[in-house]
Amino acid sequence: MSQTERLPRTRTYLMCPPQHFTVEYAINPWMDTTAPVDAALAVEQWDLLRTTLVDLGHTVHVLDPVAGLPDMVYAANGAFSVDGTVYGARFRYPQRADEAVAHRAFYQDPAWRFADPEHVNEGEGDFAYLPGAHGGVILAGYGFRTEPAAHAEAQEMLGRPVVSLRLVDPAFYHLDTALAALDDHNVTYYPAAFSASAQRVLAQLFPDAVLADRADAEAFGLNLVSDGRHVVLNTEAIAMAEKVRAAGYHPVHVELTELKRGGGSVKCAVAELRR
Ligand code: ARG
Repeated sequence: MSQTERLPRTRTYLMCPPQHFTVEYAINPWMDTTAPVDAALAVEQWDLLRTTLVDLGHTVHVLDPVAGLPDMVYAANGAFSVDGTVYGARFRYPQRADEAVAHRAFYQDPAWRFADPEHVNEGEGDFAYLPGAHGGVILAGYGFRTEPAAHAEAQEMLGRPVVSLRLVDPAFYHLDTALAALDDHNVTYYPAAFSASAQRVLAQLFPDAVLADRADAEAFGLNLVSDGRHVVLNTEAIAMAEKVRAAGYHPVHVELTELKRGGGSVKCAVAELRR
């Protein structure tokens, strides 16, 4: 039981409503094209996530959804920003390629420096930033979507050390399904989603990490958004909520049954904008 007072930091996020959300192709093991999606319910649940973040004091920008891009609700995949520089996404599958264009347009504001990527990478799906750990470190996943070459490219564009972590379980195909930042310096993760070497790296860098188990990861309990105090996670992740509570954080549940049908939850739907 941690005695530390967990303090929130105000954040700015980007989300995209699931107006055009469907599961019409399957690019991860969670997607079943024969199971119907309740689009109206998806929008309702998404809006409750948005208002939850706003009610916690955060700013949420909304990206216009584009017809024909059913996965665009997973806004985390569109880019990765650190200190005002945006490393653009380049999607692995052609079905999602045009999402990168919509995200790039959002950052055409002089306040941002946008770096076009050469290598395949799926934004915050495979990148996490811990500003208070080791002077500011980027964690990066590879194995299913993002190319390892994109990790070096991100380091070059963003000027922060990037630690490459190999994902080994297809159910946890993006870093953000297996690991999350709880605050500026600590993480929670499911060890078996990573290679043995990556597990050693994580144990060395984050000795105080909150460890999750397979059931937590399968409930998308690691696909969370934390402001340093409030940990927003889906209602299915009950055991995970208890773990973060025991570590001194305050879990806040939101229902996101429809987004799980596409293989995502809270974090996938929320990109953090860091300036
Ligand atoms: N259906 C999407 C895909 O497979 C889900 C993306 C989930 N996003 C995330 N940040 N993990 O690409």
